[in-house]
Amino acid sequence: MAKKIVTGTEETREDHALVSAGIRPRRLADYIGQEKTKQNLKVYIEAAKMRGDSLDHVLFYGPPGLGKTTLAGIIANEMGTGIKVTSGPAIEKPGEIAAILNSLDDGDILFIDEIHRMSRQVEEVLYPAMEDFAIDIIIGKGPAARSIRLDLPKFTLVGATTRPGMLSAPLRDRFGVIGHLEYYSVAELQEIILRSAEKLGVDIDPKGALELARRSRGTPRLANRLLKRVRDFAMVRYEGRVTSKAAAEALDLLEVDQFGLEKLDRDILEMMITNFSGGPVGLETLASSIGEDAGTIEDVYEPYLLKTGFIVRTPRGRMVTPAAYEHLGFEIPAEE
Ligand code: ADE
Repeated sequence: MAKKIVTGTEETREDHALVSAGIRPRRLADYIGQEKTKQNLKVYIEAAKMRGDSLDHVLFYGPPGLGKTTLAGIIANEMGTGIKVTSGPAIEKPGEIAAILNSLDDGDILFIDEIHRMSRQVEEVLYPAMEDFAIDIIIGKGPAARSIRLDLPKFTLVGATTRPGMLSAPLRDRFGVIGHLEYYSVAELQEIILRSAEKLGVDIDPKGALELARRSRGTPRLANRLLKRVRDFAMVRYEGRVTSKAAAEALDLLEVDQFGLEKLDRDILEMMITNFSGGPVGLETLASSIGEDAGTIEDVYEPYLLKTGFIVRTPRGRMVTPAAYEHLGFEIPAEE
């Protein structure tokens, strides 16, 4: 397998811990959920292998923590190729992406996380690389400058983004396969938790896993993280067994509620109710009154609040729904 280029983000370190614990599935058959994406990938991988060709470039998009990096690893594993991992913000100069591309072997996967955060100049190196498997290098300066074309191995770019709308059209158009990852169902998360618990040697009963699954906001990364915290709690208070009662108590302590909302989710809803009469309120206004970054609210918090139906988006801004009033114990205002 090719040597990995690893960027130093928190997420990447967590990713590595998951790989080493064997929690992260390595085969498509072991990957739970995302049925549509999985079925499509299975066909494209099989067809590419039959042709003895590399896979078309793949773009995964969806909220954080749903398995974009895991799927990139699975593709490499199923194709029997190497993988190099980097991220949009880590590549600062065109020369850096050129060096990475030039270091790939035939068939290798180049995984670029947060691909929407690449600079325009870096993107422009990728266009001919993706389309013609070549890069143009300018040598010299002024009138003596000339461009030489450097052929690249036939690689597969796997890009991941939480913000597909921020990708430029020319970049988006160069991906042959697009996979939209969606929040997992409670049943799928329960299965993932039971699988991870087995790998980690955690004694958990199916109802304990169900309680955790309900509160993991449709997100395996969070489910696996909470599983470890609940395990610690169960070791100290419940003789190591994660029952539904142990899970519920531990999650209450962690301030993760019945719907999987965390404190900041509830702060957002409460702020909208008390300071903005339930909305509509603009994202920037909301972000500055909470003291959070607008991008983080939009990528991480809002998608789940929308999915659970606690807020809706309108042309004039975000509004809370009656369900949010009820959940936070506020009286639902009378219709105007
Ligand atoms: N661990 C994290 N995500 C997973 C998934 N989708 N299937 C199986 N195990 C996982």
